[in-house]
Amino acid sequence: MNGVNKQEQLGDIPADVFRKHLHELADWIADYRENIASYRISPTAPAGAIRAALPQSAPERGEPLGEIISDIDRIVMPGVMHWAHPDFMGYFGATTTAPGILAEMVVAALNVNAMTWRTSPVATELETLVLDWLQQWLGLTSEFRGVVYDTASISTMHALAAAREEAADSVRALGISGRDDVPMLRVYTSDQAHSSVDKAAIALGIGEQNVRRVASDSEFKMDVDALRAAVADDIRNGYKPLAVVATVGTTSTASVDPVRAIASICREYDMWLHIDAAYGGGLAVLPECDWVKDGWNEADSLVVNSHKMLFVPFDFSTLYVRDMRRLRDVFTLIPEYLRGDAAGAEINYMDYGVQLGRRFRGLKAWMVWRTFGRLGIAARIRDHLRLAQLFASWVDEDQRFELAAPTVMGVVCFRIKAADDNTADRLNSRAVETINISGKSYLMQTKLRGRTVIRLGLGNLLTTEKNVRRTWEIIQQTVSTIPG
Ligand SMILES: Cc1ncc(COP(=O)(O)O)c(C=O)c1O
Repeated sequence: MNGVNKQEQLGDIPADVFRKHLHELADWIADYRENIASYRISPTAPAGAIRAALPQSAPERGEPLGEIISDIDRIVMPGVMHWAHPDFMGYFGATTTAPGILAEMVVAALNVNAMTWRTSPVATELETLVLDWLQQWLGLTSEFRGVVYDTASISTMHALAAAREEAADSVRALGISGRDDVPMLRVYTSDQAHSSVDKAAIALGIGEQNVRRVASDSEFKMDVDALRAAVADDIRNGYKPLAVVATVGTTSTASVDPVRAIASICREYDMWLHIDAAYGGGLAVLPECDWVKDGWNEADSLVVNSHKMLFVPFDFSTLYVRDMRRLRDVFTLIPEYLRGDAAGAEINYMDYGVQLGRRFRGLKAWMVWRTFGRLGIAARIRDHLRLAQLFASWVDEDQRFELAAPTVMGVVCFRIKAADDNTADRLNSRAVETINISGKSYLMQTKLRGRTVIRLGLGNLLTTEKNVRRTWEIIQQTVSTIPG
């Protein structure tokens, strides 16, 4: 064919070839899910090895899809960290689910853009629907409305952008640089809060140094007296307190800040209250965990990542704002070429953020939450809480270990004891590295009050008591074999 191979002809690959590979990959995915426990969790290739083994420029001539697909096993799989493995207990576990995978396949096939209602009505309407469902679980009043973004970092940045617009005049129009009528703005968050707060301050021109880290108490919750003192101190020094970011489920220990007390300080000083419930928000699904919602309706905004606890595959983060006009006023901007598509809709989600093009994320939450129902989701989370408590009890009973924080959600922080703190730091760090390199389990290390601790995170619906017990045995064996 005049030197033109099949891939270089116009159009997509032939329908029958596509169908064949689709079936092949459907089986591949089903096999992966079924056999996932047999994989070693962490890859062994040294940094850069995967890339170095591949052609450094894109191919001139198209390659047969069959060959590319066989490279998934040959090249891709050896470099994968198997987050969905039931013995992977890093971060908050992983929220891979079968209905979530199926939904992502459909989303890939449709490849629609959810920037306006008209650009694909169902993408907007399902997004609104699942936002409403989640809002009911969270117990937020109807004053709140939500929007779906990719991550909590982006959600928090948008919340603080809305706060900034209210605290200083016309920032949207005039910016904050070169103005002497904009005071130095301050954001308060605990010393346990996620670095996304600092990143938001960087992006919004508030400045990293204007995020004041407020001390936490012995249970790693924000100390409200320290917050009050920091705000008063800043006011004396001419700063304008802008916002407090309270955390419900901190990254290291899953601690919950005293939101209601923080809310009353926010009201007193006219500050925006943003709640980072990226992880802990999911607990709201459990009626017995109603305590977690205390004070939420006093907030100006709240973020929950359903990809952390609610079994929606990465990525799916929701920001709720009391009176969404506050967010819309900052970000709505309709270019001429979108006027037609933006007209006449109840809501166009592009108006609520920086991003124009938006994935059809609503579908996966809709499919996952319908598959399990609230009861099924609650049962799985409840089991993770039980397993975390069980693991904590094993740690507590073994004289060689100590718990490093209260176990509040599906996260356990603990530490191997040693003669002195520095030796213990080294031991704990080495134990995590040894276990992770073994490929048999996966844990994290973090620092609490400057000391290294081991952190176990549960969130995978494939993780059972057997997996947690095996990880505990691996930890025990590792401690008895690594040099002190
Ligand atoms: C409490 C908390 N907030 C925010 C984030 C950032 O989440 P994302 O990766 O969705 O930006 C994390 C990440 O683990 C977190 O633990």
